[in-house]
Amino acid sequence: MLMWLRMAPALHLIFLLIIHRVSAADWGVNYSPSQYCALQNSTMTISCTFIYPTTGYQIMKAFWNIDQVKPDGVEFADLSVNPEYSQRLQYLGNKQQNCTVRLSHVTKKDEHDYLFRFTTNVTTGKIIGIPGVVLSVTDLQLESPERVTEGDSVRLTCRSSCKLTDTPTFIWYRNSHTLTNIGDELNISPVNRTEAGHYSCGVQGQTYISPAVYLNVTYPPDTPVISNRSAVIMSGDSVTLNCSSDSNPPAEISWYKANKSLSSGRIFNISKISSDDSGEYKCRARNDHGEKYSDPVTLDVQYPPRNISVSMNRSAVIKEGDSVTLNCSSDSNPPAEINWYKGEMVVRSGRIFNISNISSDDSGEYKCRARNEHGEKNSDPVTLDVQYPPRNVSVFVTDSGQLFSDSVSLMCIIDSNPPALSFSWFKENQSSAVGSGQSFSAVQSGRFYCEAHNPHGAQRSDAVTVTVHQHAERNIIITATSVGVLIIIIVVIIFAIHFKRKSRRSAGKESANSDTYAGLDLQSATSDLYNTLTTVHHRPAENSCSTLDPQSSSEHHNPPINRRRLQ
Ligand SMILES: *[C@@H]1O[C@H](CO)[C@@H](O)[C@H](O)[C@H]1NC(C)=O
Ligand SMILES: *[C@@H]1O[C@H](CO)[C@@H](O)[C@H](O)[C@H]1NC(C)=O
Ligand SMILES: *[C@@H]1O[C@H](CO)[C@@H](O)[C@H](O)[C@H]1NC(C)=O
Ligand SMILES: *[C@@H]1O[C@H](CO)[C@@H](O)[C@H](O)[C@H]1NC(C)=O
Ligand SMILES: *[C@@H]1O[C@H](CO)[C@@H](O)[C@H](O)[C@H]1NC(C)=O
Ligand SMILES: *[C@@H]1O[C@H](CO)[C@@H](O)[C@H](O)[C@H]1NC(C)=O
Ligand SMILES: *[C@@H]1O[C@H](CO)[C@@H](O)[C@H](O)[C@H]1NC(C)=O
Ligand SMILES: *[C@@H]1O[C@H](CO)[C@@H](O)[C@H](O)[C@H]1NC(C)=O
Ligand SMILES: *[C@@H]1O[C@H](CO)[C@@H](O)[C@H](O)[C@H]1NC(C)=O
Ligand SMILES: *[C@@H]1O[C@H](CO)[C@@H](O)[C@H](O)[C@H]1NC(C)=O
Ligand SMILES: *[C@@H]1O[C@H](CO)[C@@H](O)[C@H](O)[C@H]1NC(C)=O
Ligand SMILES: *[C@@H]1O[C@H](CO)[C@@H](O)[C@H](O)[C@H]1NC(C)=O
Repeated sequence: MLMWLRMAPALHLIFLLIIHRVSAADWGVNYSPSQYCALQNSTMTISCTFIYPTTGYQIMKAFWNIDQVKPDGVEFADLSVNPEYSQRLQYLGNKQQNCTVRLSHVTKKDEHDYLFRFTTNVTTGKIIGIPGVVLSVTDLQLESPERVTEGDSVRLTCRSSCKLTDTPTFIWYRNSHTLTNIGDELNISPVNRTEAGHYSCGVQGQTYISPAVYLNVTYPPDTPVISNRSAVIMSGDSVTLNCSSDSNPPAEISWYKANKSLSSGRIFNISKISSDDSGEYKCRARNDHGEKYSDPVTLDVQYPPRNISVSMNRSAVIKEGDSVTLNCSSDSNPPAEINWYKGEMVVRSGRIFNISNISSDDSGEYKCRARNEHGEKNSDPVTLDVQYPPRNVSVFVTDSGQLFSDSVSLMCIIDSNPPALSFSWFKENQSSAVGSGQSFSAVQSGRFYCEAHNPHGAQRSDAVTVTVHQHAERNIIITATSVGVLIIIIVVIIFAIHFKRKSRRSAGKESANSDTYAGLDLQSATSDLYNTLTTVHHRPAENSCSTLDPQSSSEHHNPPINRRRLQ
């Protein structure tokens, strides 16, 4: 009869099927260990020994099978003929005592109780080791935090569902590259962004590798960098700024100009840039972990000169001798080179044109021209009107007097700015004016000068000698009557000379001529007398015209002699 016997004290659970005549100690199957934990696709060697009484018995069959316990004596299936196992199962033992077996490419499906059985030539001598070897097949699972922040400490663990029987040497992979770490834990402290990636683990000598797990290392934005397409930006260009910042998760980008928020998004477009868009731009990159501003980028929008104008530091009248500053203002980028033109001539360069001690020669139209590499522009002209008092005042005899004319027309010629406002005519040695207006008609002979006035001053001309010829019939009368008068005059002159000599005895010698004419005292003489005198002293042919003698001003007391005829 067959019976189940439990061999209690043994370290290993050995169940023997024994026949009554045989001591139980002579029969047995020993699995060591009795539980196996194998990695998927690995090869598992199950160590096994058995004993039986060697005398009187002969092993007929020794084989492995799974699970089935058939107490009714039904033949147990030999695993080596099972198509699922035939290629993978290898019996390494012998038929004496070694029942070691090897199973390769284990899978989850191989999780069973594996039992060794043998039979002898004695029908009752059959044995099966129960409950057999428990085989668990495990995969590897990598445990890792879903995401970490740069700087954190990270522990990755490679886990199997059972403790692997063959003490494993773990291998770690990042993005399929083998890491140097060994052990079922991978510690990274502190973690940095370069260590993000797909991690997996395996066991040395085994083909199986765990499913990869992505380690997501988040970090605040790096300082953003703005890139642009053009170095020189012309007014009207379209400009695209691109803000890049490395960050995880991707940063939200916003744009600022002089701390004023503009827009968000990585690209900032200005379709038609104007000089108003010049300035400093910054972008900000922000994510959950922080924010950073770029270094500012300066947009320098260039344009040709415009809004050019000339200003003067004085608005009132410019007088000769004044200092005048002209200021050319223009708007351009880059700054313009300024040249000043008087007419078409370049007279100065530089924004400020300072004319000190201005003279009338500086009068004229001025303009400035601003030029930069993008173009040039002229200002409107400004007129400098340099004013001065009358000068070069002279008397011009416009009508020298016809033979029978009884007046001479004089014109006061001047140079002045503004033109003279008023003219006064004087007869030499008379304090009060004898006429006004630019022209004057002298009806008496004499030395006349004019004086011109403008707001800046007055100037007088040299005196000119004017001889007014009397009408012919009057001359005849005068000639007739003059003989008596002449005698009287001669007497008067002689008397006067005599009187003067007496009265001026202590005054020293003086020329007779000068005394003579001083005695005549043209200033006090009546104009009639003077006319008469000139008539008497000169022949009519020589007396018929007035004279203009610039030198005469230095000889105020000279007799009115015609020195040069004015043609
Ligand atoms: C199992 O291992 C063999 C080599 O031993 C290999 O060729 C095969 O790809 C592995 N299968 C799996 C699923 O890992
Ligand atoms: C079994 O084999 C052994 C050894 O060959 C032999 O001594 C024994 O007699 C055999 N027993 C039977 C029942 O045949
Ligand atoms: C059983 O056989 C295997 C393979 O030949 C061997 O490695 C093992 O050491 C043997 N076991 C014993 C206990 O002799
Ligand atoms: C990131 O960590 C790796 C490995 O520890 C190290 O080689 C690398 O220099 C680190 N990089 C930075 C930016 O810290
Ligand atoms: C912005 O810059 C990044 C990095 O330099 C580049 O990959 C991207 O193509 C740029 N975008 C545009 C619109 O220029
Ligand atoms: C990493 O985590 C961040 C935050 O959840 C997420 O936005 C990002 O897409 C993740 N990156 C990858 C590669 O999964
Ligand atoms: C922008 O803000 C910063 C800090 O608040 C300040 O230092 C800087 O002067 C500001 N710039 C402008 C152009 O306002
Ligand atoms: C910016 O301008 C570029 C080129 O003109 C264009 O391709 C792009 O779509 C624009 N982007 C935005 C956000 O307007
Ligand atoms: C545009 O980029 C160039 C070269 O990358 C740089 O020299 C220039 O200063 C940049 N211009 C602006 C306005 O950022
Ligand atoms: C300067 O010129 C521009 C265009 O030429 C004009 O729009 C602007 O009003 C001008 N500015 C001044 C201050 O004159
Ligand atoms: C104009 O500028 C000049 C030189 O700078 C100076 O001498 C003069 O006094 C200024 N005139 C006025 C009215 O400011
Ligand atoms: C010239 O004019 C500009 C603009 O009108 C002004 O800013 C500047 O001070 C002036 N320069 C002088 C020297 O007057």
